[in-house]
Amino acid sequence: MYRILFTLLFSRMDPEEAHHLAFRWIRRVARVPVLRTYVAAVLAPRYEELRTEALGLRLHSPFGLAAGFDKNAVGIDGLAMLGFDHVEIGTVTGEPQPGNPKKRLFRLVPDRALINRMGFNNDGSLAVAARLASREPVFRTVVGVNIGKTKVVPESEAAADYVKSAERLAPHADYLVVNVSSPNTPGLRSLQAVDQLRPLLTAVREAADRAVPARRVPLLVKIAPDLADEDIDAVADLAVELGLDGIIATNTTIAREGLGLTSDPALVQETGGLSGAPLKARSLEVLRRLYARVGDRITLVGVGGVENAEDAWQRILAGATLVQGYSAFIYQGPFWARSVHKGLAARLRTSPYATLADAVGADVRISA
Ligand SMILES: Cc1cc2nc3c(=O)[nH]c(=O)nc-3n(C[C@H](O)[C@H](O)[C@H](O)COP(=O)(O)O)c2cc1C
Repeated sequence: MYRILFTLLFSRMDPEEAHHLAFRWIRRVARVPVLRTYVAAVLAPRYEELRTEALGLRLHSPFGLAAGFDKNAVGIDGLAMLGFDHVEIGTVTGEPQPGNPKKRLFRLVPDRALINRMGFNNDGSLAVAARLASREPVFRTVVGVNIGKTKVVPESEAAADYVKSAERLAPHADYLVVNVSSPNTPGLRSLQAVDQLRPLLTAVREAADRAVPARRVPLLVKIAPDLADEDIDAVADLAVELGLDGIIATNTTIAREGLGLTSDPALVQETGGLSGAPLKARSLEVLRRLYARVGDRITLVGVGGVENAEDAWQRILAGATLVQGYSAFIYQGPFWARSVHKGLAARLRTSPYATLADAVGADVRISA
């Protein structure tokens, strides 16, 4: 059904327009109580065995929607209705900004990939915080809030921009993510260097604690797949040193490896971050490396090229407690999360592991 809709409608539209149209439909359905109850009953089934505890939170499942789909927190319940058990909103920047000029999102259909250079188009931390504050949740979903740097803010003042967002948004976040890995904001990824990352994460931690004294809001950092292996180890060590709660691996890549089926070379060469199937191998590799370094001391979130239940299961075995996806949702549509949950539950049942927690990192522990 969705394949027909994708072929006949979405694939003929500009990808960003198609995104807005599909997201509007999702939000409309979620506004009608009978409809959303029915859709959620079909698409968001609960499997006892997938219950997960992570970051001090209780989730129905380890699988959720990665940042970038709902940048402004306008459709959390609609996405929960489709079965995403956590939704990471953002990236939200200190100030509102329009992002890069259009066209800035490209589909590489034969490679099941996307290239985007959206550039953090979002309403800004004040507006998004107000939206979250006035939200009356319909479904119990974990809401992560991903923050990044406003483009016009110079790198030397980056920390103050993140702090502003953290102060405004932490009160509404089940967890907070410092995004230093998007390739579309000049200079952002250099914040991953440990000497820049240490003061940044320390300042955001303090800001979250100031804003929410009664609760320790879990703090995570999201990293790029393009980091050299030594830099991944350095971020992992820093995370342990600072008592960070988690690492999200990975964001999109500036590499163009793993592509081979898209025939238009101009499309492949579009500037921006590549996501989807071609990212799978590197994201998995980064995750394994992180788990080998930090083990169970820090919660790892696996993202990048997760297309199905088997991919999600492989992330769990490689050390991820939570798993996210984005690009495959575009290609597979509203039944996607459901099929991942169903397949994950089936894999766990036939595995040697009694619980999902036992499976986390099992592959890495065996090969160590
Ligand atoms: C159109 C688009 C926009 C994105 N925007 C963000 C963003 O604002 N912040 C962020 O941390 N990641 C963003 N991402 C990256 C995703 O969260 C995810 O890390 C990446 O796409 C890899 O996962 P996937 O292969 O399942 O898509 C975006 C991805 C896409 C495709």
